[in-house]
Amino acid sequence: MAIRQLPPNLINRIAAGEVVERPASVVKELIENAIDAGASRIDVAATGGGLSLIRVSDDGCGMEAPDLELAVERHATSKLSDDTLSSILTLGFRGEALPSIGAVGRLSIQSRAGGAPTAYEIAVDGGRKSPLKPASLAAGTRVEVRDLFYATPARLKFMKSKRAETAAIGDVVKRLALAKPEIAFTLTSGDRTTLRLEACAPGLLDHGLDRLGRILGEDFVDDALPVCLARGAIAVEGFAGLPTLHRPTSLQQYLVVNGRSVRDKLLAGSVRAAYGDLVPNGRHPMLALFLTLPPEEVDVNVHPAKTELRFRDAQSVRAIVVSALQEALGAAQHRATASLSQDALARMAQQPSGFAPQRGMGSAPYRPGSAYGRRFGFAEAAQAPLAPVSTPSAATTEASPENGAAVDYPLGAARAQVHDTFIIAETEDSLVIVDQHAAHERLVYERLKKAFANGGLSRQLLLIPEVIELDADAADRLTAAAHDLERLGLAVEAFGPAAIVVREVPALLGQGDIQGLVRDLADELAEGEGSLVVAERLDHVLATMACHGSVRAGRRLNATEMNALLRDMEETPFSGQCNHGRPTYVELKLADIEKLFQRR
Ligand SMILES: Nc1ncnc2c1ncn2[C@@H]1O[C@H](COP(=O)(O)OP(=O)(O)O)[C@@H](O)[C@H]1O
Ligand SMILES: [Mg+2]
Repeated sequence: MAIRQLPPNLINRIAAGEVVERPASVVKELIENAIDAGASRIDVAATGGGLSLIRVSDDGCGMEAPDLELAVERHATSKLSDDTLSSILTLGFRGEALPSIGAVGRLSIQSRAGGAPTAYEIAVDGGRKSPLKPASLAAGTRVEVRDLFYATPARLKFMKSKRAETAAIGDVVKRLALAKPEIAFTLTSGDRTTLRLEACAPGLLDHGLDRLGRILGEDFVDDALPVCLARGAIAVEGFAGLPTLHRPTSLQQYLVVNGRSVRDKLLAGSVRAAYGDLVPNGRHPMLALFLTLPPEEVDVNVHPAKTELRFRDAQSVRAIVVSALQEALGAAQHRATASLSQDALARMAQQPSGFAPQRGMGSAPYRPGSAYGRRFGFAEAAQAPLAPVSTPSAATTEASPENGAAVDYPLGAARAQVHDTFIIAETEDSLVIVDQHAAHERLVYERLKKAFANGGLSRQLLLIPEVIELDADAADRLTAAAHDLERLGLAVEAFGPAAIVVREVPALLGQGDIQGLVRDLADELAEGEGSLVVAERLDHVLATMACHGSVRAGRRLNATEMNALLRDMEETPFSGQCNHGRPTYVELKLADIEKLFQRR
């Protein structure tokens, strides 16, 4: 077949394939245009998941008649003044969005430039442009897109449900709105206004919080740690959620670079690295981060949708994001999310009042490995019948003189251990419940990390070497990593085809569960590939060790041991959650407990 130059309309449809993937991408392009036009309020409406109608109105600078005509032409933009792509300050610059949208749907734009006597309207329907005509519009620009993708039925088939498309539109509006708190936004879906955001005065840290709360939720604001770090020409600001506040997807991570909301792999990876082992596998922290750097340091011309970036100095960007987050998280020390105790109290308040003994009450002690502690453990545990305090499993410790003063400490004085699993402590104005295994695990882990960083872990020889039978693959993986494990204080050797023998273990682990540790390590090693696994997954390996070296739920502790654990927690970074990201303790304020009993 002979080569031919494609007709413009086909070119536009091809371009549309990348620029407008789904209705939410149209919404994104139109809002970005409104932002670039200097709007102070933007109203978005969508019906039928955006497939029937999308309307974006703004009070920005508007367009003169000749500009309006040009706007829908391909590669026509007012945003690149010279021929360089190196210092882009606007959100748009490719001049592709409007012609692409016009090629695949029915586009009409009404606009009135500031001070112009009349407004004009232009329409492009499936790529056919109609002549300009006068319109009535007081100021700004109103863009309507009807029947999106009617001209490209193949694309239409790929649309998800209306509900999913509506949700994607909501997400886009929120992302853009978060990046521009000084602009007022509304979003109307069908005939319901689903989002109404007033303009905030500029200045993120003091004024943007309100918008952050509207977008990420009030529990985020309660538990958000301020982030602020500048190095050279790069600055990172924003708020990071406590590690105990996590979600199943990264949708609640808002990353903004020079005012552009992005989904960038490098930044997402930096966030993951910074939170590291503080968040359980497969869960994602919540945050809003604003990165500012000289425009020539980022290439935004990587993808037509402009949500991906390339940083000139990726290493520095990564380093500063990780440091900024770790600094913020480190400052939180043992703080665990406040919403946990609120949840717990709310659950308790829902317990039926009137102490009619339920079947099995008091004979249902805590079972390690039960539903508790999977994820939001405490709330689940609180639903279980409350055991009367006088059950034999409630070991009350006597108040000792040292205990009296300890109420001044943040985690207070240990008063009792219940179900051999939880420590109950008392502070000046609250009651603290500590999960002894979770807390101890974190402490051991932090100690292991520190010891490793200071030149390796000291080890202890096992009196009787422990032989562990595994499948052949697992045994292979462990023997292959033997050299690396040795540096961690664990000496393993092959023992026949499907077993290994352990001769030495890290001294810090004490009389831990060696069998369990080795089996988990074998799984852990299967996760990575190559011989670097141990080094790469060091945090995981150490966490696995800590888990098996920690005080198990079910061990009786005396008052001194309990208080020592509390004091250790106060001094250990990140002790608010265990290595799996579960909280290690919950604090119930006396005032709230009093409310439960209607004393207040
Ligand atoms: N809401 C708007 N208000 C004012 N001008 C607009 C608006 N939308 C688009 N324009 C003008 O139309 C041009 C083309 O828009 P678009 O196709 O999105 O390309 P780009 O944003 O990359 O320049 C813009 O450069 C701008 O001059
Ligand atoms: Mg644009």
